[in-house]
Amino acid sequence: MIEFKQVSKIFQSDEGQVNALKNVEVSIHDHEVFGLVGESGAGKSTMLRFVNALEQPTSGEVIVDGIKVNDLKGKDLRNYRKNIGMVFQQFNLLNNKTVAENVALPLSLHKYESVLTVDEVLDFVGLADKKNQYPSQLSGGQKQRVGIARALITRPTILLADEPTSALDTSTTKEIVDVLKAAHEAYQVTMIVVTHELEVIKALCERAAILEDGEITQILDIAPPQEGKKVQQTYAQHVMEVLGGHE
Ligand SMILES: Nc1ncnc2c1ncn2[C@@H]1O[C@H](COP(=O)(O)OP(=O)(O)OP(=O)(O)O)[C@@H](O)[C@H]1O
Ligand SMILES: [Mg+2]
Repeated sequence: MIEFKQVSKIFQSDEGQVNALKNVEVSIHDHEVFGLVGESGAGKSTMLRFVNALEQPTSGEVIVDGIKVNDLKGKDLRNYRKNIGMVFQQFNLLNNKTVAENVALPLSLHKYESVLTVDEVLDFVGLADKKNQYPSQLSGGQKQRVGIARALITRPTILLADEPTSALDTSTTKEIVDVLKAAHEAYQVTMIVVTHELEVIKALCERAAILEDGEITQILDIAPPQEGKKVQQTYAQHVMEVLGGHE
């Protein structure tokens, strides 16, 4: 379980203090897919960065499986972080390394006890045939699949995704949502997905917190998408539905 207990964060900047988070209180259950939604600057990434201790709260505690994350140092911190995978908006791939080398990178940084193989994860994200290509030869959606494969190879128990689809178009977003969903089902990770895209939250998450100006204003249960009810839409139909236009 990931618990935020009265977590606040004040950043000091040139323009003065920024109250990035104010008394955030929420518990995210094991194996849950939890969404964090909010406008730019609401504090979404800061909340995510507390979970892997890239940022420290000014007050309050972040507790993961009974461990106070704020107190971890040195080897304990490194071991704790080994349980966490991250997926980024801009993919964060190394352009001078092949797909296979990018995916294997986490394994070269730390020793892990039980990991997946490069072939297994690339097969899982549907990129087995791109193994020896370089990121510049891939589409955005394919790059994000590599990012997901790289996050999964260490068999993390927590997967943090910060705007995983925000650099992608509508149909590629759906593909990546499906890959993340499959990853959740296959590997039973606890997943926190930060996004400003409500469709992503609806398709992927079981619950979501709305962050407004550093405060959680609502925590919602998301109704699961009704399989089969909606017929496959064409791109034009999707645009018309969202814009409310007519043929
Ligand atoms: N290192 C920092 N120093 C100063 N201010 C910061 C720092 N990091 C974040 N902030 C401020 O804290 C607030 C929350 O930032 P955060 O990045 O968490 O927002 P966000 O919801 O992820 O936004 P976006 O959707 O644009 O990514 C913003 O006002 C931001 O400017
Ligand atoms: Mg952010």
